Amino acid sequence: MNIDDISAVLANTLYIVKNRRISVRRAFASTCKLMPCSSREVHREKLYELTRLFISSFYRVKYIAEKSGRRNMSNRYLARLFLYLYFMEHDLAFPNKLKKVVRRDFPDLEKNIAEIEAWAKLSYPKWFYEKLASLLSVNEAEQLLYSMNKRVQWVRINTLKIDLDKALKLLENEVEFSVDREIPFLLKVVKSRRPLRSLKLFKEGLIIPQDKASVLVVKALTPEPDMTIYDFAAAPGIKTSLIMQLTDNKARIVAVDSSPRRLESMKKLLRKYGVEVSRVKLTLADSREISLMKGADAALVDAPCSSSGAISKDPAIKIFLENDLIIHLMKRTQVDILYNALQHTDIAVYATCSLMPEEGEEVVIEVMNRGIEHKLIEPSINTSKGYSKYVVWNKVRRTFPHKDESEGFFIARFEK
Ligand SMILES: C[S@@+](CC[C@H](N)C(=O)[O-])C[C@H]1O[C@@H](n2cnc3c(N)ncnc32)[C@H](O)[C@@H]1O
Repeated sequence: MNIDDISAVLANTLYIVKNRRISVRRAFASTCKLMPCSSREVHREKLYELTRLFISSFYRVKYIAEKSGRRNMSNRYLARLFLYLYFMEHDLAFPNKLKKVVRRDFPDLEKNIAEIEAWAKLSYPKWFYEKLASLLSVNEAEQLLYSMNKRVQWVRINTLKIDLDKALKLLENEVEFSVDREIPFLLKVVKSRRPLRSLKLFKEGLIIPQDKASVLVVKALTPEPDMTIYDFAAAPGIKTSLIMQLTDNKARIVAVDSSPRRLESMKKLLRKYGVEVSRVKLTLADSREISLMKGADAALVDAPCSSSGAISKDPAIKIFLENDLIIHLMKRTQVDILYNALQHTDIAVYATCSLMPEEGEEVVIEVMNRGIEHKLIEPSINTSKGYSKYVVWNKVRRTFPHKDESEGFFIARFEK
């Protein structure tokens, strides 16, 4: 593959991310159906990593291009500029053609790189940077954003299917990891010789990629055997399956989701993960309005959100956050789902994988103002508190990428 072939893969993946609003992984796979993504010299997984970095660097590359007076640049052109910067920063020999084109079109490149503003250097939308800086401090917001540009992978040992010690032994041959201090079935991947998805343990559902913050959401729910739990935004079922793991397959779950496609995946996933499927009732419905006859012992609202806390997993989210529209849309849905959930149960955990208070503190406050009997009870998990400018800050929890090495989640527990 030459530099033009590589730019074509990068540019097309960006095009798909922008237009179909899907993850980098899926957009890359679609691109690879249209054009070659590997050759003798270029390994497909390496090209995927490069593409991921390109999408993550989108705002930075666009800023540098615009500073050079170039607006509305094609994706192909942005890809070339990205590759040029990549070669430069990694001290690699430039392909001649690339050097000639970029030098011609960007005469002030070094100056523009040196004078770049912090939000662009970190490569996030400007509004997103400013919002976090106003909630934390400039310094802390920058640490947070910097750490979201790196990926930390967590893996849950699925003790429904394999003994913990046996899994650790098997994994030792493939992966360098550290076991979490508080959660013995959770591992942080330090280094892996090959992608986790290619491991037999993964393919057979013995290990499950699951971020630490997502595990903490289920911990905050404190599920117990024989509880009936309503999961109001359940698909694809990662948290449902963890509830079943923590209760030794003895909880009963009504798993509601409004997406038939995602519920279909959930059905397959639960089987793969060894969940006792007769105890999980998959239900296609809108959780803003569903009315279930029997009350539940507890409910989980792992609400649909902007996913702004999961950028480290999928940098395509940066592109979806070009403006803050989605945050406000999601807030409405979350208020409605949470309020409805609280009509069904005395105990509920509401969580989002978002760093935005509109999808956390503000939802909690709005639902409480609607008049509910529930109180906020501090979840017994060891993470940061909410944003201090909100009155509920010390009753709710947040996880932060730069502090917890996890995705950025909001977690609140209600009890009557
Ligand atoms: C964050 S995901 C849930 C992830 C899931 N809890 C897990 O751990 O695998 C949010 C889910 O909410 C669903 N959803 C969105 N709007 C909904 C609604 N109004 N009612 C029910 N489900 C909804 C989406 O289809 C999506 O599957």
